Amino acid sequence: MITIDGPAGTGKSSVAHHLAERLGLEFLDTGAMYRGAALIAIEAGLAPDDGPNLATAIRAAHLHFDWTVDPPELRVGVRSISRRIRDADVSEVVSIVATQPAVRQVMVERQRRIAAEHPRLVTEGRDQGSVVFPDAPVRFYLHADVAVRADRRLSQLAAMGQPGDRAQVMHRIRERDRIDSTRKDGPLIRPEGAIDVDTSDRTLDQVVEHLEAIVRRELPYAGFADP
Ligand code: DC
Repeated sequence: MITIDGPAGTGKSSVAHHLAERLGLEFLDTGAMYRGAALIAIEAGLAPDDGPNLATAIRAAHLHFDWTVDPPELRVGVRSISRRIRDADVSEVVSIVATQPAVRQVMVERQRRIAAEHPRLVTEGRDQGSVVFPDAPVRFYLHADVAVRADRRLSQLAAMGQPGDRAQVMHRIRERDRIDSTRKDGPLIRPEGAIDVDTSDRTLDQVVEHLEAIVRRELPYAGFADP
């Protein structure tokens, strides 16, 4: 088990996915799970801060990953929602949904259950090394300058044919960080003892290589895929 936490725009998901691939491990995107919860709220017509009812709706919804594809696809029943959860309406409410203790309780339970079934895992999110898997043998905390994170977001938007306003994107990132870091339950923090990695001046490949070298050094007998 390797955990990677940090704010949005640090390249966490891509880093976790590539690291898992290189080491021959599986990959868990817990942000996608919170996004799935937000989509359920939207489609059920529930307010994003209606934690208890939302938790009931999530438990009833059969939100799960299809592990037969790489990266694993998030589904509600047989319906794939991996793309839909990246839409703007979901992004807008997800950080409020993620502040709800009742929702976090369901997610943390599910993440631990997933890890029991898939123990060779790279998991990424905001609370993986602090709350969910504090005993993971290697835990990373990724961060980057807000301006760099905003530029990465603008490139993603441009690739989707959606030009964005830099000042507005920076404002949204700061606002999301504020909500994620100040919530009472599972706030975004650098887990104690985690390895700090600044991704501002590193490419995706450089970050992955850096993490891979650390993991191979720290866990020499884990039986990873050959480099
Ligand atoms: O990484 P992301 O942008 O897909 O995350 C979506 C939201 O979910 C974001 O507001 C933070 C929240 N989240 C969380 O609270 N805990 C996690 N383990 C993962 C994500």
